[in-house]
Amino acid sequence: MPSTGRPDQKPRLYLLGAGVSFPEHLTLRTLDILAACNRICSNLPQSDLDLLPSNLRSKCRSLWSIYQENRNRTENYMDVSQAVLQAADTEPPVAWLTPGHPLIFDSVSQNLLKSGRARGWNVEVEPAISCVDTILAEVGYDPANGLLIYEAYALVMQRLPIIPSSATLLLQPSAFGSDLTHYQSQWAPDLSPLRDYLLRYFNSAHPCAFVRSHSLRGAAPQICWKPLGELASASAQDTAGSTLFVPSAQSAGSAGQQQGAP
Ligand SMILES: C[S@@+](CC[C@H](N)C(=O)[O-])C[C@H]1O[C@@H](n2cnc3c(N)ncnc32)[C@H](O)[C@@H]1O
Repeated sequence: MPSTGRPDQKPRLYLLGAGVSFPEHLTLRTLDILAACNRICSNLPQSDLDLLPSNLRSKCRSLWSIYQENRNRTENYMDVSQAVLQAADTEPPVAWLTPGHPLIFDSVSQNLLKSGRARGWNVEVEPAISCVDTILAEVGYDPANGLLIYEAYALVMQRLPIIPSSATLLLQPSAFGSDLTHYQSQWAPDLSPLRDYLLRYFNSAHPCAFVRSHSLRGAAPQICWKPLGELASASAQDTAGSTLFVPSAQSAGSAGQQQGAP
């Protein structure tokens, strides 16, 4: 069992979320912490970090260049984690600023939380707006009616259970079937195994939506509806940066309006 760090010590490392639409989703608390840190390490590109006020900008270090295209994602994450740990070692307190919520589908944050606490550091996690929040807003769905959240490829590979009476969010459909980093290339996943897995639970007319919430500088949100049977015809443009929203079986017929289906 790793140490949970020393809560009586000042944090040496903060795990912070940039929200989905940057910089407008930054919370006041996150801005205060950024101001108090000696170094801000981030996987946001430099062009995004340049939108921060000058007192923060001067402390920023974009680690974007460490993410090498067509390289195993885990290896990229390990190298980025090492760079942040090194900064926290030499110039604390340090902030790790990452898209969305820092602990929602973020392997680097998980590495930092475990490694930092194993070193006896106080590592503080601050909540932030996630794509889970923005997608629910885009499709108008209240998770009081049930919500499953999975990584799309893990769902199929691990045969994870779907509950048809609940809605499901499947993250990273754009990386389905690949362990490599595809940030720059227009790599199109083969979604037929995902379609076939979902067809065990829903009929082929069941509507599903690739949702991309508005992110940087007010780019328009995109909701691309497809019947489940046609899921594999989605283009790289439909899937890029998106999450797949699968409404519940009960609501799919009548709930088009409630859940934003056509
Ligand atoms: C590595 S995860 C990071 C999630 C992030 N930590 C968060 O809380 O939003 C990346 C995945 O989040 C989802 N995602 C990120 N930004 C999104 C957006 N603007 N609209 C829809 N989904 C998004 C996509 O499924 C994408 O493949």
